[in-house]
Amino acid sequence: MAQRRFLITSALPYSNGRLHVGHVAGAYLPADTYVRYLRARGEDVRFICGSDDNGVAALIAARKEGKSVEELTTHFNHRQKADFEDVGIHFDVYGGTHQPEYVELHNKISQSFFQVIHDKGYFVKRTTEQLYDVQANQFLPDRYVKGTCYGCGAPGAYGDQCEACGISIDPMQLINPVSTITHTRPEPRKTTHWYLQLGRLEEQLRAWLESKKQVAEGTPAWRDTVLNFSLGQIKQGLPERAMTRDLDWGVPVPLDDPDARGKVLYVWFDAPIGYVSFTAKLCQDRDGDWRNYEKWWKDPDCKIVHFIGEDNTVFHALTWPAVLMAEGGYQLPWQVVANAFLNIKFPGKEEEKISKSRGTAIWIEEYLKIFEADPLRYYLTAIAPESQQTTFDVDDFIARNNGELLNALGNFFNRTLTFANRYFEGKVPPTEPREEIDCNHMAAIAATAGKMTENLEAFRFKAALEDLMALARAGNVYFDAKQPWKQRKDNMAGCGTTINACLQTVKALTVLMAPFLPFSADKAAGMLNLGVQEVLPWSTATEELPAGHPLAEPVILFKKLDAVELFGEATK
Ligand code: 2FM
Ligand code: ZN
Repeated sequence: MAQRRFLITSALPYSNGRLHVGHVAGAYLPADTYVRYLRARGEDVRFICGSDDNGVAALIAARKEGKSVEELTTHFNHRQKADFEDVGIHFDVYGGTHQPEYVELHNKISQSFFQVIHDKGYFVKRTTEQLYDVQANQFLPDRYVKGTCYGCGAPGAYGDQCEACGISIDPMQLINPVSTITHTRPEPRKTTHWYLQLGRLEEQLRAWLESKKQVAEGTPAWRDTVLNFSLGQIKQGLPERAMTRDLDWGVPVPLDDPDARGKVLYVWFDAPIGYVSFTAKLCQDRDGDWRNYEKWWKDPDCKIVHFIGEDNTVFHALTWPAVLMAEGGYQLPWQVVANAFLNIKFPGKEEEKISKSRGTAIWIEEYLKIFEADPLRYYLTAIAPESQQTTFDVDDFIARNNGELLNALGNFFNRTLTFANRYFEGKVPPTEPREEIDCNHMAAIAATAGKMTENLEAFRFKAALEDLMALARAGNVYFDAKQPWKQRKDNMAGCGTTINACLQTVKALTVLMAPFLPFSADKAAGMLNLGVQEVLPWSTATEELPAGHPLAEPVILFKKLDAVELFGEATK
C-alpha cells in the first residue's frame, strides 16, 4: 500500500492550569496511540498541539494570581508540555497561540482567515447592548455574569444558562446581574461585533456530516456521538455567532474600520487556527519555509484528524468546518474523534466529576511522582470514554494493573524470557515441525495483529487493547498447556518448540503494545535484542525471530501497586 499522509491534532489546552487524567484520556492519549500506530505502519504523520492562550479565561486567571497574562500562559504552556512528554505523548510541535515564538505566525494566519471570510461576505456587523463591568473596565463574557433566572426565579443562574431549569439565558435579561470578576452590578453598553452567518452554511455542513455516516474502504464512519450531536444542532438551526470580542488580549481584528479598534478575534475563532499556525511554524523550523503548511492543510491527499473532548464537538464539527468552508482554500477534517468526560472515584467515596476546586483531580505531574506512565496509559485506554462517560476508579486502577498488566502481560514475558535464559542459553531455540496446538497458537498471533489493525484504523482503541491482552492471556494458556517445565526433562526439542512459539508471541506483543505502552515496549525490545530503532515496524509483529537469535537479560516490566493511599498526594 502506498504511504498515507496524516495531520493529527489534539485539542489545544487552555494555558491557565495543569493537566489531569481526564484531559489525557480525552484528546491526547488516543491521539498519541494513533500517531504511534501510524508511524509503526510507515505513514507520513505530523502531530500538532500547543496551548490555547487567548481569551478571557487566561486574563482572569492571571489577575487572580497577580501575574501578567504572558507570564501565566508561558508558565502553564511549559508545564503542560513537560507533563505530556513525561507521559509519553510526543508532539512534533507544541506551540501556543500567544507564545513568543508562535504568536506572529498565528496572528498573521488568523487575521488572513478573518479577512478572507470578511471579504467573501460571510460576516454581518451588528451593534448590540452587552453587560460592561465598569470596575474591571471590560465587557463581560456570558459565563462571567450571574443573576436570578427569569425563567424559574432561581438565584445564581449564569449568563449563558440556568443550571436549575436548564434554559439558555440571554445575559441582558438576567434579574439583578452581578459580575463574577468584581461582584459589582454591570451596566449595559453598546458595542459592535462581526457575526459569522452560520445559517448560510447549514446545508453544506449537513451534507458533509451526512457523508461521514457512510463507511468507505479505508474511511471509517464518524462516531455516532459526534454525528448525532452535530446534525441535531443543524436541525435546530445554527445561530449567528460573534467572532470578535472587546478585549486587549488576543489576535487584533485586522479590519480598517474604527469599530474594530480595541477588539480581538473570538478565542474560539483563532484557537483551531492554532493547528494551522503551529504546522506552519513546524514547517518553518524543519524546512525553512512556513508556507509548506499548505502541503498538510490544502492537499486532499492529507487526512486531517482532530482528537477532542466531547465539550468541543460543536466547535470542531460545526464552527471550524464552517470557517474552513467560508474561507474556501482549506480541506475539511477527515475525522473528528471525540471522547466523553471521565469521572473519578476515590476509595470509599462516591463517583464524582473531576474538579480542581473540589480537589478531585489527579494531576499528571503528581501522578508521575509516584507511578510510571504506562500503567496510566493502560488504564485510561482500558476504560476509554469512547462512547459514553466512564470512571477512573482508583481501586480498579490498582486491581487492573496488578491483575492484567502484571499477571497476564508481565508474567508471560517474564516466564518466557526467564525460561529461555535458563535453559536455552539466552537464545531463541529452534522449532521442530509444529503440532496442531502450536499452529493454532501461531495463528492466534496473526489473527490478533489483524484485529488490532482493524480496530486502530477505526479509532477503537479500547477494543484494540483488549485484543492485545487476549493474546497475552492466550500466551499464558499455551505455556500452561504445553508445560515446558516438564518437557524440558524428557523432550528438550519439544520444549524448544514451545519456548520458540512463546518467544514469537513475546515479540508480537512487544510490537503490538508499543503504541499503547511505549516505555514498556522499549524495555521489551531491549530484552529481545531487537536493535535500536525509533519505531518497531507494525508488520514485524508476525515476523518470527530466527533460531539462535540472542536475548538479553530479562527485566521486570510492570510493578505491583498497592499504594492506594498515595493518591492522596496526587489530588492536592
Ligand atoms: O476546551 C478547551 O480546552 C479548548 N481550549 C480547546 C481548544 S481546541 C482548538 F480549537 F484549539
Ligand atoms: Zn432557571
